Amino acid sequence: MPGTCRVNEKGRLEIGGVEAGELARRFGTPLYVFDEEAFDQRVREFQAALARSWRDYQLLYAGKAFLTTGFAALVAQYGLGLDVVSGGEIYTALQGGFPPARMVFHGNNKTVEELDFALRVGVGRVVVDSADELHRLQQVAAARGQVTPIWLRVTPGIEAHTHHYIQTGQLDSKFGVPLAGGQALAVLQEALQLPNVRLMGVHAHIGSQILDPTPFQLVAPLLVQLLAQLREQAGVTLRELDLGGGFAARYTKEVIPPVAQVVGALASALATACDQQQVPAPKLFLEPGRALVAEAGITLYRVGTCKTIPGVRTYVSVDGGMADNPRVALYQATYRACLPDRLQEPATETVTVAGRFCESGDVLVRDALLPPVHSGDLLAVFTTGAYHYSMASNYNRVPRPAVVTVRAGQAEVLVERETYADLVRLDRIPSAWRRPADVAGSAEPVAVSAHGQAEASAAGR
Ligand code: LLP
Repeated sequence: MPGTCRVNEKGRLEIGGVEAGELARRFGTPLYVFDEEAFDQRVREFQAALARSWRDYQLLYAGKAFLTTGFAALVAQYGLGLDVVSGGEIYTALQGGFPPARMVFHGNNKTVEELDFALRVGVGRVVVDSADELHRLQQVAAARGQVTPIWLRVTPGIEAHTHHYIQTGQLDSKFGVPLAGGQALAVLQEALQLPNVRLMGVHAHIGSQILDPTPFQLVAPLLVQLLAQLREQAGVTLRELDLGGGFAARYTKEVIPPVAQVVGALASALATACDQQQVPAPKLFLEPGRALVAEAGITLYRVGTCKTIPGVRTYVSVDGGMADNPRVALYQATYRACLPDRLQEPATETVTVAGRFCESGDVLVRDALLPPVHSGDLLAVFTTGAYHYSMASNYNRVPRPAVVTVRAGQAEVLVERETYADLVRLDRIPSAWRRPADVAGSAEPVAVSAHGQAEASAAGR
């Protein structure tokens, strides 16, 4: 079981020392549960691996995986940097008290407003993604009378997805400036000429859920070669190198190499390349998202309708689905599930755990082996900490679940459950579309319960 999940003496699932059933009763379902200690362990593993393999380094957390104000506050406490990709992520982190100097601002199409905001608050590094953006940033910085530290994101011609990687001459990607044909080198040289940007380093991110260290070992020498070329042609030695994120997490049966092994392999490839090219060892940055938070997340659902189609399959429908976990529909992701309150019962039935949203593709686990499932059972899905809450939607106008964090027997809310009122908060009815009675302000209001759920009014609507 991931993180601090364990089966307690009553045969029930406990997360961070709190029974899953108790969390569901206290906070309702669906519920995202964040296991703080699991995150702590993963951060320590990365920090220890980096400390063992490289002298000067900084671990960043990729906020796109999961970010709230509270979580930004926790990440700040660990002394990590933060990879942010939008004005909204910068704002969220600032609201959580995260120091802007430790933020690194990524994105292939940052708007002028976002760049201006980033410079105004003092984001640590802007990662320039294209020649076009370099010019835009120069203008924004000049208009502010600032000189802003930057990295250049390069596309190294190596792409890694799960256990595959491919090397291509010209990488077809919307991200970064290709190394191929000297394009990245040319943009670096141009950056050196611009008065309002200060070129500090280069960055590459080659994919996500990478199960094999090889692509990391291939990319490091390519970036070192770029640094060597720049030194040769412009006499400038850059001191910062970010090799991105992409480290894998365990969803089902994947074999994940230990962090120490992947980071060690990457660092030794980097060291060898630095030696060979006689480039001084740069400060190394890594920016994992998924590897730090995926396994710290568990989603709790309540089972509703169960339906067996004889000879075909049994559908077990839960009170969440693709709006809180879009990864199955988007990436054919696979997950493990269990019945937290019935862990001692033998798993004898293969069922399809389906969501409650209006799409046939709304499935959470295609073939889950569980004890016989009944309406009212609690169901847990593991490894839901990365790209779940951050990608959640209000499809079908279903309020997004709450997020709670658990540690040492204590649970606290990170994000409140949305209410019906939240769903319509930004909606407006153009005056011509209103019923005359509404315009006159005499429409019968819909009562809203303490939970924010609309109740039929006395008129019995
Ligand atoms: N750095 C950069 C520049 C990135 O683009 C990403 C992820 C990361 C770091 C963090 O990658 P990680 O360590 O989490 O793999 N929504 C997809 C994942 C998209 C990842 C995008 N970039 C999913 O749910 O699998």
